[in-house]
Order: sequence, then C-alpha cells, then structure tokens
Amino acid sequence: MGRVTMKFTYPEGATPIEDISGLKLKWVQTQEDLNQAEAENIYQATRKYLLKPVSTVEKWFHVPFLKEVHQEMFSLVWDWAGSFRTHRTIPGIEPYQIPEALHNLCEDVRFWSNLDDNTLYIEQAAIIHHRLVFIHPFSNGNGRFSRVIADRFLKSKGCKIPIWPVDISEGSERRKQYIQSLRSADKGDLIPLQKYMIECGASIKE
Ligand SMILES: Nc1ncnc2c1ncn2[C@@H]1O[C@H](COP(=O)(O)OP(=O)(O)O)[C@@H](O)[C@H]1O
Ligand SMILES: [Mg+2]
Repeated sequence: MGRVTMKFTYPEGATPIEDISGLKLKWVQTQEDLNQAEAENIYQATRKYLLKPVSTVEKWFHVPFLKEVHQEMFSLVWDWAGSFRTHRTIPGIEPYQIPEALHNLCEDVRFWSNLDDNTLYIEQAAIIHHRLVFIHPFSNGNGRFSRVIADRFLKSKGCKIPIWPVDISEGSERRKQYIQSLRSADKGDLIPLQKYMIECGASIKE
C-alpha cells in the first residue's frame, strides 16, 4: 500500500494540504504521523528561536530571517519549508503580492521601535501575528510560524510570551475562540486577539 491512502483531517480554519508530494518522510502515513513529525521539527526550531536570548527587532525582523524560521520549523518534513507559496489559499493574499507585503510588515515592525512605548507591545504582537496569517506566505504551517514570530517579537521586547494551548491546532473550544479572534482581526478589531494572548499569559512584564 502506498501513501495514496493517507487521509488528513482538518479543524476549522486550517489550510488543507492538497499536495503531499513535498513530504520528505516515507514513514508518515497518517495525520497522527504527520502531527508527530512536525511537532518534533518545530520543537527543535523553537529551542533555537525562542529559548535563547533574542536581539532587538532591527537585527532580525527582515524577510530572509522570517523565511529561515519557517524553513527551520518544517524542513525535516516538507521540501517547500521556507519557500513562498505559489498557489492561492483562504486566508491568503495573491501569491505574487507576498514578498512586498512581508517587506512592508518588516519595515513597520522595525519602525515601531522608534516609538518605544511598552504599553503597545501586546497590540503590536497581535498585529504581527494577524498580518502574517493574513498574508499566509507559505503552503502550510502559517499559524504555527506566525505564533513563533509574534512570541519572538515579545521576547525581544522583554515581555512574557503566551503559552498557546496545546490543542490550538485541533478542533477544540480554545481553537474556536482563537479563530474567532482572527476573524475579528480580519475586520479590523484586534482586541479579541490581544485578550486571547493575554489569557494565554502574554504580559508586558517578564
Ligand atoms: N479567518 C482567518 N483570518 C486570519 N487567519 C486565519 C483565519 N483562519 C485561520 N487563520 C490562521 O491560519 C492558520 C491555518 O493556516 P495553516 O497554514 O494551515 O497553519 P498551521 O498548519 O500552522 O495551522 C490558523 O492556525 C490560523 O492561525
Ligand atoms: Mg495547517
């Protein structure tokens, strides 16, 4: 039996994996296998990007570094890790607009440092998280990638980072609230996402 029998299941708000040709691991046959392989890869990457001291945003909030983080998070599992998507997704902007949209976000984030008002850090982290999933730069893993980047931003500002619920990628009640908060952000209201992050432990004081 080949991998053609593999079935993936998706909670609400997940980007379906339509093409598994980029899968690097032969032993991955089920959704559970995939979750396990990805989680192991992401664990290694977060040790590198979230557990070690983080420099100021001017030093790292640039497009090539964002691609590197996604690459580190998924490159053991997927061959498109760290490469921009070339097909349409929902959510997601047109593929050709991705480089410019990311570039603009990076400029905004580095510009905010001139203001340096610590009461804004959670709001800024929520904007970063939402804009990254809204752009949806990669074929998959955008939610997990965007959460790591928002966390790293908070860490670079000396803030306490949220502990995202372990079941946030499954069809849980906590995920429903999370997806709802992103839909509010789609309409321009960032308060629910900020509240969600604060409930998960994000705080301007470490
Ligand atoms: N309406 C929406 N607006 C903005 N972001 C959304 C919306 N719905 C889902 N998302 C985000 O997109 C993610 C799903 O994209 P995906 O690339 O599959 O990431 P992952 O595989 O890490 O979950 C969700 O986890 C969530 O962060
Ligand atoms: Mg996904």
